[in-house]
Amino acid sequence: MGAGTWSVDVFPVTVKHFLRLLALPSRAGSFSGEKLMKIYMNGKLIPERDAKVSVFDHGLLYGDGVFEGIRSYNGRVFKLDEHVERLFDSAKAIDLKIPMTPAGVSRAVVRTCAANKTYDGYIRLVVTRGVGTLGLNPYLCKKAQVFIIAAGIQLYPKKLYEEGLRLVTVGTVRNLAEAVNPRIKSLNYLNNILAKIEAINNGCMEAIMLNSRGEVAEATGDNLFVIKGKTLLTPPVEAGILEGITRNVVMELAVEEGLDVRENTLSRYDIYTGDEVFLTGTAAEVIGVVDVDKRKIGNGKPGAITRRLEKRFRAFASSTGTPIA
Ligand SMILES: Cc1ncc(COP(=O)(O)O)c(C=O)c1O
Repeated sequence: MGAGTWSVDVFPVTVKHFLRLLALPSRAGSFSGEKLMKIYMNGKLIPERDAKVSVFDHGLLYGDGVFEGIRSYNGRVFKLDEHVERLFDSAKAIDLKIPMTPAGVSRAVVRTCAANKTYDGYIRLVVTRGVGTLGLNPYLCKKAQVFIIAAGIQLYPKKLYEEGLRLVTVGTVRNLAEAVNPRIKSLNYLNNILAKIEAINNGCMEAIMLNSRGEVAEATGDNLFVIKGKTLLTPPVEAGILEGITRNVVMELAVEEGLDVRENTLSRYDIYTGDEVFLTGTAAEVIGVVDVDKRKIGNGKPGAITRRLEKRFRAFASSTGTPIA
């Protein structure tokens, strides 16, 4: 181990436990801090150190595959059916045959959570095209590979939920629906990564991506909302976005909250002049935005309606879902 690197082995168990709760990579190559994590791979639960994919897998060679990011709350997998349905839709769109039924995939997710005691965590469900030749032809790949990681995630530091995020609009245009439709949650996230690079290099943790018409699409891994008076606005799917599962839940909760919810084409003007702005996503959950392109949003703190929706979302998420048996 090099100077300046930390090993959890020198800390007492309580610290290891703490690192595990944060789900931070506490040792190179290990996200569990110990060799405890079990990865689901093609029907089997195997130790994380043995969970490997081939260098000939087209998921790695070409980003050819699909995935889902899912959360568990309070011993239940949140919106599991919706995630599995979106996975199968993404796979259908790229003509990828998942060698399992949707019910089988759901069972595998629950089984992986149970094996890792991932009662409040983050799950990554991945299907790659599988091992093929060095050419592009996906039909030469023998069999799709399915793996599931049940761990944790802390996308943004906790204090950012109190203080709010700053966003910058970036030059990287969201993928054209006619090219790689953003509705497909594919393993090819370079479009989003390029936007993320621009955001970070501009001192922000998140970006606003526009579509080729200059309309607001979404953030790099989250959907975007604006509140104006009693109206909640968000770009429609046709703006070129991933139809977020958190987005759909929040829209329903907003109706219960008495808001007029609309899917509208939005420009940057609508964002700058909004009373409140927030992002939604499985990893991010609901997080307020306080600054966009150096325009202060509202009073510069996450807005009251945003905070209410955030609270409602957490209460809803921790009281529903598929039990982890
Ligand atoms: C590009 C993009 N937009 C939006 C979202 C939010 O979707 P969800 O709420 O289903 O996680 C994600 C996350 O999966 C994403 O990657």
